[in-house]
Amino acid sequence: MKYAKMTLCSEYKTGKIDERIYGSFIEHLGRAVYGGIYEPGHPAADKDGFRTDVSALIKELNVPLVRYPGGNFVSGYNWEDGIGPVNLRPRKLELAWGTTEPNTFGTDEFMKWCKAVGTEPMMAVNLGTRGPDEARNLLEYCNHPGGTYWSDLRKKNGVASPYGIKLWCLGNEMDGPWQMCHKEAAEYGRTALETAKLMKWTDPSIETVLCGSSSYSMKTFGEWETTSLDIAYDSVDYVSMHQYHSNNDNYLENFLAKGVETENFIKSVVSALDYVQGKRHSKKQINISFDEWNVWYHSNGAKFEKWSEAPHILEDVYNFADALVVGTMMNAIIRHADRVKIACLAQLVNVIAPIMTENGGKAWKQTIFYPFFFASNYARGYSLQAITETSKYDTRWYTDVPDVDTSAVLSEDGNELVIFAVNRDVKDSITLETKLLDFEGFKPVRHVALEGCDPEDINTADEEKVRPTEKTAGDVDGKILKTKLEPMSWNMIVLKK
Ligand code: AHR
Repeated sequence: MKYAKMTLCSEYKTGKIDERIYGSFIEHLGRAVYGGIYEPGHPAADKDGFRTDVSALIKELNVPLVRYPGGNFVSGYNWEDGIGPVNLRPRKLELAWGTTEPNTFGTDEFMKWCKAVGTEPMMAVNLGTRGPDEARNLLEYCNHPGGTYWSDLRKKNGVASPYGIKLWCLGNEMDGPWQMCHKEAAEYGRTALETAKLMKWTDPSIETVLCGSSSYSMKTFGEWETTSLDIAYDSVDYVSMHQYHSNNDNYLENFLAKGVETENFIKSVVSALDYVQGKRHSKKQINISFDEWNVWYHSNGAKFEKWSEAPHILEDVYNFADALVVGTMMNAIIRHADRVKIACLAQLVNVIAPIMTENGGKAWKQTIFYPFFFASNYARGYSLQAITETSKYDTRWYTDVPDVDTSAVLSEDGNELVIFAVNRDVKDSITLETKLLDFEGFKPVRHVALEGCDPEDINTADEEKVRPTEKTAGDVDGKILKTKLEPMSWNMIVLKK
């Protein structure tokens, strides 16, 4: 018998949700920038070449933070190539992805674009081919008011006031052999410490993110975090984690279970961070920046012309099952709101993204747009620590996978309760029984679901097969709210006082 029970009390809070968990990511990769957010000459482009049709969809997603410019790209990037008069900027071979980078979009264009879409930057520095000196120069260019070489160069380039960029990533995936100038843990720890030190001397108001493991399955996972963090502890504020799920073996029940691995990964990183804190007898707590997460596998192996400009790379076309997995990953992030303070859905446009575009043509919402959209717009406030009890299933890889995966959020004013629930069962509907311990006067006002689709259903420029359905909100009987969750469905239930 399949069942799902959840008990909620407004006093049992995991923590305040940091709105930066609804961040995203734009890398100089494929058509994320060129043909994605930026396409001069497109009918919807504004005077700066920013596609306003794409910006409108990004505004719907309500992303407070966008990581830039990479990703693997950043480990070979000379940021100076992307500033100043556009006609003088060099075209360069881009070694991370085997393309040509025209550099017609760079730091100043990105900052202008952030303003246009209403988001904040999360900037990454190159700790692959470059090091502390170039990083502190970039920071001086961006954040110093004036009167120095780099800050005056910014002014000469038309930007009088400093940008005040707060968040800085100390490289990208430096544990990965695929990374340009990949490092050993201790070697990276030293570079990160010295870079962050110089950067914080330049601008003490910034926060820095140390690269954690690029996946849970890295052989160096755990050791990498503890070694590099122990060295760089005093100069860093967050440690990153990256995770992408795939369904390469076309095993649906197993794929739908993958959020369990997100849960385990977060818990393991927290343990590693706390171990280092304990070992150092430190009062300072390091939190998580989950700055790349998503489903990624459809586009692997797609061919493109080597050294071409803005080719179609990593353009995963997402299906209904992917949207459910994204929903469970989002739930795990919300459940760990006390320690995950930043998270970036990777990426934002065209490249493994919730938004797709045609060059010169339309922009549309992929299936994964929706679970992210609803969380970002409705799950603001306090993450609640639910007591859950649900039937479970096993796959070849996982045991005791909850049939129903949930998270719950109480708005800051305490008047709105939002429940997210994914029914992983591929055949049966399950009734979610939510016991509301102290929510007197709360009434369910909305139940929206992604349901009734084939796992392979996709959205295209012309047809949106996977879209939310508005349902009749259930009723509270005594203290119990009963909600029918259709087989293979994502659900959001809103209660208001
Ligand atoms: O997001 C795509 C790539 O995935 C990024 O460039 C890299 O950091 C990760 O391996």
